[in-house]
Amino acid sequence: MTAPTPTKAAPAVPASRPAATAARQGGRDGRGDGGSDGRRPVLLAVQNLWKIYARHHRRIDVRDPEAVARAESQGAVVAVRDATLRVRRGEIFVVMGLSGSGKSTLVRCLLRLVEPTAGRILVDGEDVTAMDARQLTAFRRHKVAMVFQHYGLLPHRTVLENVAFGLRLRGEPRRVQLERARAALARVGLEKWADRHPAALSGGMRQRVGIARALARDADLLLMDEPFSGLDPLIRRELQDELLRLQAELHKTIVFITHDLQEALRLGDRLAIMRAGRIVQVGRPREIIQHPADDYVRRFVRDVREAAALAGGTLRAAALEPVGAEGGSGLVP
Ligand SMILES: Nc1ncnc2c1ncn2[C@@H]1O[C@H](COP(=O)(O)OP(=O)(O)O)[C@@H](O)[C@H]1O
Ligand SMILES: [Mg+2]
Repeated sequence: MTAPTPTKAAPAVPASRPAATAARQGGRDGRGDGGSDGRRPVLLAVQNLWKIYARHHRRIDVRDPEAVARAESQGAVVAVRDATLRVRRGEIFVVMGLSGSGKSTLVRCLLRLVEPTAGRILVDGEDVTAMDARQLTAFRRHKVAMVFQHYGLLPHRTVLENVAFGLRLRGEPRRVQLERARAALARVGLEKWADRHPAALSGGMRQRVGIARALARDADLLLMDEPFSGLDPLIRRELQDELLRLQAELHKTIVFITHDLQEALRLGDRLAIMRAGRIVQVGRPREIIQHPADDYVRRFVRDVREAAALAGGTLRAAALEPVGAEGGSGLVP
């Protein structure tokens, strides 16, 4: 349980992330929601997505506010409320919000692990909401990979088998399974642990295995639901660095969920802030810090500013640079 984390995997990473960002296509240019990224294709589009936890939720007419209110008064929980967002290829898109704000529901809807009540989800132009069971299985096996907070490793299989598992499910030849699994483990610095079982690994290492497992599948879209939230702060930071390093090499499209604004600012090319099921603001970190859309966001930002002041004011200095005239508030229209 107390196996040391490999030191090799902790690269020298700057306090903010200009290096990692510059390695990415174009980096930040201080522009708004579109900016230079506007030329990159949209991989994931979520359109007016709703999820109401209730029996017969599909019968609720979400366009009728009274019908929604009535359902709520009868105990239904509106976990995602009319969410619209677009994630471009190659970006880390962070969804941030307090516990209970609907983040997990939103990300699970993307795979239909939770059935949406209304709205559309398009991945690479394919309508996930319209898929039948067979198409959905193929979609889950090939197009997306998910990393969970609680790792979800199979305890009786070796680290290597865990990483290869998704490839096995989709019927890749054994040789390909093992080759890719080994390569993915090497990427996260765990090749020496291939034949061990998850129980021999620390939390941080297990989550590296979770990441390797997702990478091995070579999916377009990576969904990460609070993957680092259970880890100690130092390990957590190490894994954030690791993710940025991997992203600079691999240019995945990542939807990263967190309740921690600092983590969000550190990792996100863009952030969506959720409150009570709604997306209340979308923007680049600097836009959100400079132009919080409402008091809810302002409170989050104030905490981060105070932490930065305590830490000597170095935290994400870049995020506090002036925004150009074209910056905009990043508010969802
Ligand atoms: N299976 C469920 N049935 C009923 N309510 C649920 C279910 N899952 C989540 N919820 C409720 O939906 C809301 C959003 O939850 P969740 O998506 O887990 O938020 P987060 O991930 O931001 O903490 C919460 O009020 C939660 O209690
Ligand atoms: Mg959650």
